[in-house]
Amino acid sequence: MNQDNPQEKLKALVGRAALEFVVPGALVGVGTGSTVNHFIDALAAMKQQIRGAVSSSKASTERLQRHGITVFDTTEVQSLPVYVDGADEIDGSGCMIKGGGAALTREKIVADLAERFICIADVSKRVEVLGAFALPVEVIPMAVPQVVRRFAALGGVATLRAGVLTDNGHPLLDVRGLRISDPMAMETEVNQWPGVVTVGIFARHRAQVCLLGTTSGVQRLDFLRP
Ligand code: A5P
Repeated sequence: MNQDNPQEKLKALVGRAALEFVVPGALVGVGTGSTVNHFIDALAAMKQQIRGAVSSSKASTERLQRHGITVFDTTEVQSLPVYVDGADEIDGSGCMIKGGGAALTREKIVADLAERFICIADVSKRVEVLGAFALPVEVIPMAVPQVVRRFAALGGVATLRAGVLTDNGHPLLDVRGLRISDPMAMETEVNQWPGVVTVGIFARHRAQVCLLGTTSGVQRLDFLRP
């Protein structure tokens, strides 16, 4: 990672800022991506104060373990006070597109265990309407052509992410050309399509707080639950 890159500095800033949400003595849910990597590195400084972490990807698990942080499986955990993760886009109500790093399914599973989703992102991720970033969708292989056709009917162009399988062994579609003005409705609709494992719209599991890294510091945004 290039620490001289201005965007990387903003990611590091919010990664450190998220520590204030970590509950001493408890487990913390940990997402995936370059912004979360900064959070994990900062978390190492308070590893003695937490019980451990629940991770959303093999990559984050390995990074946590390298820091000596104990990682628990989701099957061992009933709830988490907080889940900290990045986003590819976040709108004005805390709804997000996620999955640029292919970890969307496990991210949604861990987010579902958490009472609060703390999104950490640099300011470039804040958008008015979701959809400029290609929407990731994890799919069962035999359903790929029909899911592609369903997106085409909505005006989206879905293409397979070349050379990528998720941690669950499934392919990913990236859907371009969508304007997601009602994220809850689109998440609900796509969730119904046979063969869709996870759609990368996080509306039901939207952020309650976003720490946005800007050139003038960390801006905190608070959102209502749906
Ligand atoms: C991983 O699948 C994603 O959901 C990430 O949270 C998202 O892509 C943000 O990643 P960066 O922090 O690397 O931008």
